[in-house]
Amino acid sequence: MSSHPSQIAADAAVDRLPVTLPRLAEMKRLGDPIVMVTAYDFPSARAAEAAGVDIVLVGDSGAMTVLGYPSTVGVQLDEMIMLARAVRRGLHTPLLVGDLPLGSYEISDEQAISSALRFVKQAGCDAVKLEGGGPASCARARAIVGAGIPVMGHVGLTPQTATALGGYRAQGRSAAAAARVAAEALALQEAGCFSIVFEAIPSQVAELLMARLEIAVIGIGAGAAPDGQVLVFHDLLGIREGLGARFVKRYADLQDEMTAGVAAYADDVRTRRYPQPEHGYAIDAAELSELRERLR
Ligand code: KIV
Repeated sequence: MSSHPSQIAADAAVDRLPVTLPRLAEMKRLGDPIVMVTAYDFPSARAAEAAGVDIVLVGDSGAMTVLGYPSTVGVQLDEMIMLARAVRRGLHTPLLVGDLPLGSYEISDEQAISSALRFVKQAGCDAVKLEGGGPASCARARAIVGAGIPVMGHVGLTPQTATALGGYRAQGRSAAAAARVAAEALALQEAGCFSIVFEAIPSQVAELLMARLEIAVIGIGAGAAPDGQVLVFHDLLGIREGLGARFVKRYADLQDEMTAGVAAYADDVRTRRYPQPEHGYAIDAAELSELRERLR
């Protein structure tokens, strides 16, 4: 008899050692695919833990998925720290990465180190991620690494600066643009990043760059060549309205299930099918008659 996938995942998660940076480097060397997913609260962290993923990112995508902002631009560092603290409470083995939101690292190395330290000290993150591979982002990455905090880079489509990139669209689709992505990725590696995200770049470009990178590359819309893949929790489980980007593969339709569940509950309340006696508490008959006396 074959086991249910959730049972296989739960078994895999039992007794797992915490995922460390050397473990990720080893996975890259061995060609073991690295599984990364975002999480923003205790239940999503518990799902990632039980499924045995390797890296959990408290992405600033949480601005949209759980906080209802129209983009990642408005989310505050304080809000990201609160989400990361909830994730930490549900997570033990995956490497936990906190995403530095726009405005929390660009101004100076000091600001970047201070924001990264908050993720580590207040939320228990193992590492932070920042977007972009230009000179400023690389300087910040170098400064944070210098302060002893591991940094994950992010090139290609970088949603925090999507306006400057011409919108939410694939990057590196001309030789010149792909060469810029390559230069940024190499500069982030040189700055000391332990890993880098490639978002929405042509698969062939990602494949060409893989040969040049010694650190673990995690792809999202970058084809199959990267060392691992990341998807946004709410995208892969269908906890959203609309389809999302073309690179998303949907493994469930929980938004529809949630709506159906709440609608069924509302219907039960309105038609008095809920609650039933088994959903309530009882009082001893003698206590009840004494209460009646007292209330008389
Ligand atoms: O914020 C996020 O979810 C991300 C991933 C898409 C890599 O940056």
